[in-house]
Amino acid sequence: MPDSNRIIIFDTTLRDGEQSPGCSMNLEEKLRMARLLDEMGVDVIEAGFPIASKGDFEAVEAISREIKNSTVAGLCRAIKRDIEASAEAIKAAPHKRIHTFISTSPLHMKYKLQMTPEAVLEAITESVTFARKFTDDVEWSAEDGSRTEDDFLCRCVEAAIKAGATTINIPDTVGYAMPDDYAAKFTMLRDRVPNMNRAVLSTHCHNDLGLAVANSLSAVDAGARQIECTINGIGERAGNAALEELVMAMRTRPDAMPYHNGIKTEMITKVSRTLSSITGFVVQPNKAIVGANAFAHESGIHQDGVLKHAQTYEIMTPESVGLHRSNLVMGKHSGRHAFKSKLEEMGYGDLGENAFEDAFNRFKDLADKKKQIFDEDIVALVEDETGRDNENIRFTSLVIQAGTKGPQIASIEMDVDGTRKFAMSEGNGPVDAIFKAIRMIIPHDDAVLQLYQVHAVTGGTDAQAEVTVKIEENGKIVVGQGTDADTLVASARAYIHALNKLIDKRARTAPPDVHMNEVERAGP
Ligand code: KIV
Ligand code: ZN
Repeated sequence: MPDSNRIIIFDTTLRDGEQSPGCSMNLEEKLRMARLLDEMGVDVIEAGFPIASKGDFEAVEAISREIKNSTVAGLCRAIKRDIEASAEAIKAAPHKRIHTFISTSPLHMKYKLQMTPEAVLEAITESVTFARKFTDDVEWSAEDGSRTEDDFLCRCVEAAIKAGATTINIPDTVGYAMPDDYAAKFTMLRDRVPNMNRAVLSTHCHNDLGLAVANSLSAVDAGARQIECTINGIGERAGNAALEELVMAMRTRPDAMPYHNGIKTEMITKVSRTLSSITGFVVQPNKAIVGANAFAHESGIHQDGVLKHAQTYEIMTPESVGLHRSNLVMGKHSGRHAFKSKLEEMGYGDLGENAFEDAFNRFKDLADKKKQIFDEDIVALVEDETGRDNENIRFTSLVIQAGTKGPQIASIEMDVDGTRKFAMSEGNGPVDAIFKAIRMIIPHDDAVLQLYQVHAVTGGTDAQAEVTVKIEENGKIVVGQGTDADTLVASARAYIHALNKLIDKRARTAPPDVHMNEVERAGP
């Protein structure tokens, strides 16, 4: 018997999330995220928008080949070649979904699509019918659905289901809805669309008014059984509904929301940190569930209460989201075995041999400089090593002359395709000197540095620095990160990381053929 309170978790971090400026990921990074999402129990992974670029297509294809449990979805407009590209990209997935969308609100139809409502209705039937040739699992979305007139929305949904759509998604594309009116839309559809019982209703909320999670849960109360969301709530503009908030709300308040899902919430912290480290998007400290302060009790009264009885101020345990009150203290006497146990305890037990060795060596170096090594230090080190095995440009060493007297000079040594390279440059300050020296070794005159940001991994003057840089070259944006106890070394590492990604991106975004070249990035 179907379980009527089971909520399907549809994660769109790799599509709607990745679409937001500065959040782009390369193929290896998307694969890493997809593996984690699959392991965490996400039901559907929207892996990308295959027609949008060669990189998107290849990422969806690679994820489809590898992911075995989650359904892999590819997004497409109501256009034949979009649907074909999606179908081709998801071909290898054991469970595959085509997700096709078209705008249905008066505003979007008139100004964006310049189509009549009747033409939109026709496009819905045609696109869904065509998508069904490739898979039985077809999702149809009414873009700007929350601002669509009820009568027309009913006709669209009925037509989509008649053509074979098995999931009907009603996005609040511009984050305009209020919980009550959004829920009313779902109730209305369930009451009025005659074939509604043949499809699953889905929510997709943007966070422009900070209501994405509230709106999603409200829609669930009104009958939606799929929620579309992203890790850390990343996404266009103010982002999408945050997966971790939705899932923890359901887990913490089953009395108010008697729904369940397949997410292993204990993986939330790790997945959130991985995404943040890949994209360079630092999670705001007071962000619910995954912010650094989400489980911190600073005030004396609160600390006292928590010590006497955790539930005085804690509505959920840190362990339930994978945050551990550690009993393994790390320092300079900790050996390989203790380091491995620590990694396992924090969910990083699957680190490859090389990455483990590199991380261990860097941990030993750090332990020489820093008395107390916190969990955050280890996560930063490990994230800094993961996924960088194939980088062609590697940092080797750095010598800096800085201070008030004389010019600031950086001398840097790097390994480029296996050859040792050296450069020395003056600059307006040591960071400028480092970046100029790197430019001398790897010229990239068209690229512009858009962001340079330093974040202390922990408290204390001996804290590791986590540096994020964002570089833009002809519309391509990449983010690099580097961590080290020395802020200047971390800066060099971050810049080199970004350069590796830029070079990779240049290769992947070259259009594969004339046909692809015609396609504009038609993101919703
Ligand atoms: O926000 C939106 O409307 C979308 C759709 C394509 C699902 O992202
Ligand atoms: Zn969206």
